[in-house]
Amino acid sequence: ILKKLQRECATPLPVLRHVADAMAADMRAGLAADGGSDLKMILSYVDSLPRGNEKGLFYALDLGGTNFRVLRVQLGGEEDRVVATEFDQVTIPQELMFGTSEKLFDFIASGLGKFSNKEGGKFHLPPGRKREIGFTFSFPVKQISIDSGILIKWTKGFAVSGTAGKDVVACLNEAMERRGLDMRVSALVNDTVATLAGARYWDNDVMVAVILGTGTNACYVERTDAIPKLDGHVSTSGRTIINTEWGAFSNGLPLTEFDREMDAASINPGEQIYEKTISGMYLGEIVRRALVKMAVEGALFGKSIPHKLLTPFLLRTPDLCAMQKDESDDLQKVGSVLYDVAGVESNLGARKVVVEVCDTITKRGGRLAGAGIVGILQKMEEDSKGLIFGKRTVVAMDGGLYEKYSQYRGYMHGAVTELLGTELSRNLVIEHSKDGSGIGAALLAAANSNYEHDF
Ligand code: BG6
Ligand code: GLC
Repeated sequence: ILKKLQRECATPLPVLRHVADAMAADMRAGLAADGGSDLKMILSYVDSLPRGNEKGLFYALDLGGTNFRVLRVQLGGEEDRVVATEFDQVTIPQELMFGTSEKLFDFIASGLGKFSNKEGGKFHLPPGRKREIGFTFSFPVKQISIDSGILIKWTKGFAVSGTAGKDVVACLNEAMERRGLDMRVSALVNDTVATLAGARYWDNDVMVAVILGTGTNACYVERTDAIPKLDGHVSTSGRTIINTEWGAFSNGLPLTEFDREMDAASINPGEQIYEKTISGMYLGEIVRRALVKMAVEGALFGKSIPHKLLTPFLLRTPDLCAMQKDESDDLQKVGSVLYDVAGVESNLGARKVVVEVCDTITKRGGRLAGAGIVGILQKMEEDSKGLIFGKRTVVAMDGGLYEKYSQYRGYMHGAVTELLGTELSRNLVIEHSKDGSGIGAALLAAANSNYEHDF
């Protein structure tokens, strides 16, 4: 079973090249027309990126990863840059992911209310001025303008009723009204777009942002003349940020029976296949399904089948990461994770197999993520010869999977270098932009503020 898994998950260079090429081709098709490809290629309405002169007090909300965050960002202009940020963070309660839209937005508004109440009048705004928010909402949204957009569908296991098809800013406004909060959303952005803006604040060469966390996605700077479906949207800069929603990519991925079964049992079968193959929410579940088969058909853990292991999503990506880090001779950590998480007693032989399974799934995920990044760069380079590979280009990365799983990160970087070769990779910088999305959302709120900020 292990050998078959390794064979089916293999990502030799031709597979990576196919994925990169197909990603570039799907991007073009998605830019040509809505519905033209798996990739939605959403216009973000962000046509200019931070310059560093943004000034004033702004708030940011961040919903869509493991945590919900509220931030206050004081932007100090050219000289002082970010003066201060403060934030509150809570894990999103499981029941809200399956509840009603009203409850979810009420939770967000309540977090915002608690956070601003703690200020105790410390931050004064001129009379009549509303506090402005950059709202990072990390799901596929059809933007109508920079401060409004309709939820296309939920991803990453969210199944909140009553939000799809609605303007999420209107949902938040209603919740804020119910709580008497006099604030205004001045920018609605995806987490990739916020990360790109946050990273660009410090570095002008940032052209792409990628999230590898619970879910996965990428955005990049596109030329408006390369977007046939522009729909009358005019960008004075001649550029705009495109949210690819690449999690929906599906072309030519090496999939196994475990991926297919997991997809079929998911709340969104047939959707987000790339995301289900490479992102943090799913890696542990694919491994668990493979281990169950090995236990049932190959007696991996002895005669009896560990009952707990049959629980969907029992094994999480941090567990895989902890097991892969174990360098001891007897794989003691692997043994204790298996015991603590799944109640499984294991001998050294079984532990070695478990590590191999983790490595196989992680390696496939990381390498396919690398191929996706190269696909984006390739598309950009084809349209603007030399402007990507001929100069320093930065890809800003964020998300728990990228940040915390060093093996995954290593496989991803390895695939990028393999695909591009050392010469072309020389100008490429792939770097972590930690929590750039919070400051990024505040910066975009500043850029779209209703007021002059001279304080
Ligand atoms: C955070 C970003 O660091 O990563 C968020 O600030 C993003 O905007 C998140 O959504 C994704 O990470 P995870 O691992 O929590 O899904
Ligand atoms: C999912 C969402 C996308 C988000 C990504 C990373 O794919 O659909 O909008 O950017 O997760 O959080």
